[in-house]
Amino acid sequence: PEITYVVPDGTSHVVDVPVGQSVMDGSVRNNLPGIVAECGGSCSCATCHVHVDEQFAASFGEITDEERDLLEYAEDVCDRSRLSCQLVVTAGCDGARVTVPDSNG
Ligand code: FES
Repeated sequence: PEITYVVPDGTSHVVDVPVGQSVMDGSVRNNLPGIVAECGGSCSCATCHVHVDEQFAASFGEITDEERDLLEYAEDVCDRSRLSCQLVVTAGCDGARVTVPDSNG
């Protein structure tokens, strides 16, 4: 499934992320800027914060309490905020767009 990443400099990058990997994996493996992912995906750093486009919010799993708590440490949080390491890609995510705030890290 193709995921579009809008990174802090405003450019868009389309990445084919394999099913089962996270949105964070897709960014890190392609060296995209913005998603720092300091903790390596164990839901404990909040440097992988992204805003998910509204029409794709339901394509990813529900937010957990743990993720919600951690998002309090991120900046530029909005109701579309998620931690990208917790966004597991499925076939239904094809075409999803995430925006990386430049406050990560
Ligand atoms: Fe650390 Fe997602 S990579 S919380």
